[in-house]
Amino acid sequence: MLGASGYAGRELCSLIQRHDGLSLAFATANSQRGETVELPRGGRVTFVGTNEVRLDAAALVFSALPHGTSAEWVARARAAGVRVVDLSADLRIGNGASDGIPYGLTELRREQIRSAECVANPGCYPTSALLALAPLFEQGLIASGAQVNISAASGVTGAGLSPRLDLLFGEVTENFRAYGVENAHRHLNEMRALTTEYGADVDLLFTPHLLPVARGILSTITVPLARPLTDLLDPWRTRYAGERFIEIEQALPELRQVTHRNVVRIAVRQVGGVRTPTIQLFSAIDNLMKGAAGQALQNANLMLGLPEATGLPA
Ligand SMILES: NC(=O)c1ccc[n+]([C@@H]2O[C@H](COP(=O)([O-])OP(=O)(O)OC[C@H]3O[C@@H](n4cnc5c(N)ncnc54)[C@H](OP(=O)(O)O)[C@@H]3O)[C@@H](O)[C@H]2O)c1
Repeated sequence: MLGASGYAGRELCSLIQRHDGLSLAFATANSQRGETVELPRGGRVTFVGTNEVRLDAAALVFSALPHGTSAEWVARARAAGVRVVDLSADLRIGNGASDGIPYGLTELRREQIRSAECVANPGCYPTSALLALAPLFEQGLIASGAQVNISAASGVTGAGLSPRLDLLFGEVTENFRAYGVENAHRHLNEMRALTTEYGADVDLLFTPHLLPVARGILSTITVPLARPLTDLLDPWRTRYAGERFIEIEQALPELRQVTHRNVVRIAVRQVGGVRTPTIQLFSAIDNLMKGAAGQALQNANLMLGLPEATGLPA
C-alpha cells in the first residue's frame, strides 16, 4: 500500500487487514515513517518510507499517492512485474495517460478489469455521477445536444489530509459553499472522457460543493431526455440487476444510508414544469469507500481472481 497514511490509504489498509484472502505486505508514508497508528476498523499498521520498500514483495500494489506523484510509482511497480490499482487521477481516461488501462468503474468495466495488470480507480465525484448516468448513456436516452447538470456536495475528507486554511473546522462547520466553479473541476476530464466513449452528444456542467461532514457525496443530476420514460426506474433496475453494490430506490438517498459502505444508492424523479422531458438523478456514495478504497478493493479482488465482494462492507 503506497500512501497508506492518507484518508483513502488508511481506509484501504483497514479493509485489507480484515480481508480473508489478502494481507498487507507494506504500508508507506514518509512524514509518519516508523509510526504505528490505529486503523479505522481496528488493528494497527506501522508505516515505512516509500523508498524503503521492495515493490515486488506484494502481488498487487495499491497507490493512494497524490496525483502527479502516483504515476511514477505505478510505473516502478509495473516494471517490477506487480499488478497495480492506482487511486490517483494520473492514469484515468481523459487525463492524458490511460494507455489502455481500464477505468475502474467496476460495474461498467468488469471483464476488462478482471484481466488487467493495472487499473485506474475512478474519482469520487465521477463514481457517483457516472454510475447514475451510465444506463442513460448505454440506452441513448439523453436528448442530443443536451446539457447535463451535475450539482454535487462532498464531505471534507475528499480533499485529503494536507492542511489547508479553508478546510479548518472553523471554516467548514455550519457552512456550505461551492468550489471548483466555472465548469473547471479536474474530475470533469474523466467524466467527459467516459461520456465520449459512450458517444453521447451532451455537455456536462459540474459544480462541486463542500459539505460540513467528514465523508459522503450526494450528486443531484438533471438530465433532459430524448423521450419520456414509461417506467422511471426501469433503465437502472434492468442495467444493475443483481449488482450487490448498487441500490436503486424509490426514496431519495441520504448520506447516512451509504457512509462506511461500498455502495452507490440511486433514485430517479420526473421533473415538472419544463417543456423537454427531464429527470433528476440522485446518487449518494461514501467518497472514501465506493468512491476510493472500497472500489479499489473490488477491482483488486477481480484482478486477483477472488470473489468480487470479499472484504467489502455492503
Ligand atoms: N480522499 C478521497 O475522497 C479520494 C477519493 C478518490 C480518490 N482519491 C485519490 O486517492 C489518492 C489519495 O487521496 P487521499 O485523500 O487519501 O490523500 P492524502 O490524505 O493527502 O494522502 C496522501 C498519501 O500519500 C503520501 N504522500 C504524499 N506525497 C507523497 C510523495 N511525494 N511521495 C510519497 N508519498 C507521498 C502521504 O503521506 P506522506 O505525506 O507522509 O508521505 C499520504 O500517505 C489521491 O490521488 C486522491 O486524488 C481520494
